[in-house]
Amino acid sequence: IEAQTRATVDPSSPIGTIAPEVYGQFLEHLGAQPYGSIWVGEDSDIPNTDGIRDDVFAALDKLDIPVIRWPGGCYSDRYYWRDGIGERALRTNAAWGGTLEPNTFGTHEFFNLAERLGAKTYLNINIGTGTPKDAADWLEYITATRGDRAEERRSNGRDEPWTVDYLAIGNETWGCGGHITPEYYADTYALYSSFAKTEGEQPKRIISGSHDENIEYSDAVLSHPYIADLAEGISVHVYSLPTGDWGAKGAAVGFPEAEWISTLSRALRMEGVITDQIAMFEEHEDLGDDFGLYVDEWGTWYDPATEDTPALYQQNTMRDAVVAALSLNIFHDHADRVAMTNIAQMVNVLQAMILTDGPDMVLTPTYHVFEMYKPFQGATALPVSYDAPDYSHGDYTIPAISLSAAKTPDGKLVVALINSDAKAAHAVDISAFGASAFTGRILTADAMDAHNTFEAPEAVTPSPFEVEGGVANLPPHSVVVLTEEQ
Ligand code: AHR
Repeated sequence: IEAQTRATVDPSSPIGTIAPEVYGQFLEHLGAQPYGSIWVGEDSDIPNTDGIRDDVFAALDKLDIPVIRWPGGCYSDRYYWRDGIGERALRTNAAWGGTLEPNTFGTHEFFNLAERLGAKTYLNINIGTGTPKDAADWLEYITATRGDRAEERRSNGRDEPWTVDYLAIGNETWGCGGHITPEYYADTYALYSSFAKTEGEQPKRIISGSHDENIEYSDAVLSHPYIADLAEGISVHVYSLPTGDWGAKGAAVGFPEAEWISTLSRALRMEGVITDQIAMFEEHEDLGDDFGLYVDEWGTWYDPATEDTPALYQQNTMRDAVVAALSLNIFHDHADRVAMTNIAQMVNVLQAMILTDGPDMVLTPTYHVFEMYKPFQGATALPVSYDAPDYSHGDYTIPAISLSAAKTPDGKLVVALINSDAKAAHAVDISAFGASAFTGRILTADAMDAHNTFEAPEAVTPSPFEVEGGVANLPPHSVVVLTEEQ
């Protein structure tokens, strides 16, 4: 044990309720998602229920997924909803390598999946190759109780309307979503949001905002004279690349410590991104206090392992687990403004929860972090004070530890502790938290790039963890979650 840090918690000035939606997922039609991994079809040899894989569904179900964003990403601006209802159309996915898109996973399959998981729905509508009429017609098909579109939905097997809880209007409009100026996008947004209506309660409408430290794009969009009345929030996308270079991002496994710390350092930029976005909101007096920040894409992004690797399929290690935990701790610290986040993505794409290969399935270290952190969903975030020791390597110095604490609705203290140090253990004295006993679990492994494979699926899994004499002894590269016993 290198050092001991004393931490305190202040229950008297809560930060806010951690929206369950902070634990949201993202399902884009991309590479090996959803075909073969989530959706196999009713005739598959892989056990399934109405075409959804049973093993993957059961694993996802254990995460208490609060919301799923679909169908993209960049793909959403090419998606024509009629291709994915009734008689399915075979198209190419021009957003992601021109792969064949059978459209057998469409509106019914997405909403049925969300309904079975008890997840809210976050639809990203097409403003790139679509029209306001396409968007309006799609929402009528999904939510109408009367009329021809409701009857068409019924003839396709769904009697009751579904609920669209959140609506993204555009995606990365500064990039794959059209390369349009913020002024042109703001007008386009206003037009679509005026016509993209559902029957009954309206979804929360999300503006597609900027990325990383860029504030200017979102700032300019929010300067549109009517937009504050037409939106409930704005998004930001933040990806963590080991090198920061999109041309040579860095490997998912077998990386040096220099890329361990650089990746964590880039993930920690999330704090500044959120703080700056919120400060920018304050400059727009027409935005209410409940105007939300939606980090609707975040996570690690590495170089593909081989040419044959399906698009954006990457391995997931202890480094990803620590990135996930650090990011979640930051979201908790801004629970009053961060309304939703969606890690990219759910299965087989980027920082995935699950990887599949034919009938095989493996849970990633990131999956285990999301599962361990479940008690934070809907809990009240509390400020924690501590002096984190430095962890330095090469050009980088970051805090060695990160802590987050919250009170669950049934009154239990839940604490997350991360040791980002690749080599040294750190001890944290949490006796001042006032809990008499905790039930704890730890996620760690011998190597910083330890990961689960189809041959060894349990190389990185949580195990029991005990606080000794009020002190949590954190081994290198570890994530611990403690829940107060009552
Ligand atoms: O998550 C993969 C892609 O990253 C999304 O489609 C796009 O929005 C972002 O650039």
